[in-house]
Amino acid sequence: MSKETSVQWFPGHMAKTRRIMQSNLKLVDVVVEIIDARIPYSSRNPEMDRLVGSKPRLVLLNKSDTADENANNKWINYFKNKGVSVLAVDCKSGKNINKFKTVLGELMADKIQSWNNKGMVGRPIRMMIVGIPNVGKSSFINKMAGAKLAKVEDRPGVTRGKQWVSLDDNLELLDMPGVLWPKFEDKTVGEHLAFTGAVKDNVIDSEYLACRLVEMLCDMYPDKLCERYSISLEDLPENDEMMGGCVKGYEILQRIGKKRGFLVSGGEINTERTASTVIDEFRGGKIGRITLELP
Ligand code: G4P
Repeated sequence: MSKETSVQWFPGHMAKTRRIMQSNLKLVDVVVEIIDARIPYSSRNPEMDRLVGSKPRLVLLNKSDTADENANNKWINYFKNKGVSVLAVDCKSGKNINKFKTVLGELMADKIQSWNNKGMVGRPIRMMIVGIPNVGKSSFINKMAGAKLAKVEDRPGVTRGKQWVSLDDNLELLDMPGVLWPKFEDKTVGEHLAFTGAVKDNVIDSEYLACRLVEMLCDMYPDKLCERYSISLEDLPENDEMMGGCVKGYEILQRIGKKRGFLVSGGEINTERTASTVIDEFRGGKIGRITLELP
């Protein structure tokens, strides 16, 4: 696929997902929307607001361990200012998962009060997890439920055979998360999703992707980039759309490959190997805690 072609999602999937999501939403009291703290904008579904409507929603800024701490705080303030409940978590280590019930309780306080007033004391809160593929939905469910309940599959919507998992007397979880498609229309969004591994690797050429990534890092986190690869970012060529728009990134990639000694016969730099190394190291957090999008 050409680097200019944006990532596509089969339209039939979207319609199906939308339908399943809507029917599942009717069953729950609250939606827990998981987003990626490194790309909070790109990892949100464009239709989320419309689908969820006025139902209470809690946003989990997941993978916050891999994101820039300052940026996490900015995003938390951003959501709070918009009146949206938010919690930064790390579903891999479990950090802040213990705060989840408190935040949920605050969000649902009025609802619980109204249930109590109607005599429905102890009515459990039913919740559903939604998010784009790979954002950490299964990890969250596993952390909450303490067992391997959710299968890690990039499947739209929620599967048949819905099951409620009782997390405690007052909290029930739909055991399959709602998988939402990300917003692909925007080329930058597509790239950000590819950087983090939210979309499949074979969709965008890896050398092109790595060039775009190092260009972003050069602008946003030059110190971390220099430090990780022991390179200088002096005297870089300017990007020129006539040249394909990535000369700067390609030069950075070459400097990295040279430092790492990634050569092919003839002494040329193996930019393909360099590209996959940089992408892997970014995803693995080796370049540092990085957030690519600010509110
Ligand atoms: P999904 O259900 O939304 O598709 O996502 P899933 O939980 O399968 O998580 C996708 C990947 O993201 C997994 O890595 C998972 O470990 C990782 N992950 C989830 N939450 C966090 C987090 O808060 N921090 C970090 N650093 N990683 C997180 P994987 O490579 O597919 O598997 P593995 O590393 O668990 O073996």
